[in-house]
Amino acid sequence: MTNIEGHVLLTGGHGGLGATLRRLFINAGWQVTSLVRQSAGGINEIACDLGSSGDVQRVLATLSGAPAIIVHAAVDGRREIEDTVDLMSQYQVNCVAPYVISRSLGDRNADSPRRTLHVHIGSEVTFHADAKSGPYAATKASHRVLASALADRFRGTSQSVATIVLGPLYTPRRCDEISLIAQRIHKSEAYVERTALARSNPDLVISRFIRPQSVFEATLALWRMGEDANGSLIRLDGGSGGSLN
Ligand SMILES: NC(=O)c1ccc[n+]([C@@H]2O[C@H](COP(=O)([O-])OP(=O)(O)OC[C@H]3O[C@@H](n4cnc5c(N)ncnc54)[C@H](OP(=O)(O)O)[C@@H]3O)[C@@H](O)[C@H]2O)c1
Repeated sequence: MTNIEGHVLLTGGHGGLGATLRRLFINAGWQVTSLVRQSAGGINEIACDLGSSGDVQRVLATLSGAPAIIVHAAVDGRREIEDTVDLMSQYQVNCVAPYVISRSLGDRNADSPRRTLHVHIGSEVTFHADAKSGPYAATKASHRVLASALADRFRGTSQSVATIVLGPLYTPRRCDEISLIAQRIHKSEAYVERTALARSNPDLVISRFIRPQSVFEATLALWRMGEDANGSLIRLDGGSGGSLN
């Protein structure tokens, strides 16, 4: 490949957001390494179960160099978790793993002449947890706090730690669902999207799901900000937290 912009390390490379980010970065001339739960032998994929601290340590030991951008797009998004083992495993994937990966690579590269941007992905669910989403929301809230702690850890170094908080994403699955419903009720896809969002949360001031392209653009903007991106927060959540959050 020519015109390589830099190296991106991405978790959740097979997920709704991760797979799209991977494609967008590659199309823009970046080299991408994806951490995936199970590799199907794809190019530049590394199998890593983020729910296993041993697996995370093993993979960290094999990574070399300083990526320009790290995006934590993996998530255990299960709702209604009751079992303690499942609770702990969700916390490990959503909070401990991104923290440990950023802390370890950040410490290693803190004195590097090349800058690294660490992007931690948050969720609007933290603003309105309920009985069903509570455990998941707690992992995302905890992740957000630890990302702030990392920004402090790396102040004055070549590492910048930022958070992008997302509202409902336009994932391939949602795209299919919208298309099916639109056909069934003989309305436009835009109408279905607008109606679904308005019903899901009255605080939302968006009329379409957040496009992964916007997450990509936000990441590039943060990267171009260099040191100023450290400790920053971009909310692409459609105002879902209401006026004061
Ligand atoms: N989707 C939304 O509407 C929405 C809204 C707000 C915020 N967000 C945030 O956006 C980010 C991406 O969400 P998404 O919708 O892309 O999620 P997703 O489609 O469920 O993808 C999550 C990815 O994480 C991987 N993963 C899960 N457990 C893992 C483990 N133990 N080890 C390694 N990988 C593991 C999954 O691997 P497999 O492919 O093997 O399952 C999957 O590829 C998350 O931080 C989420 O909180 C999403």
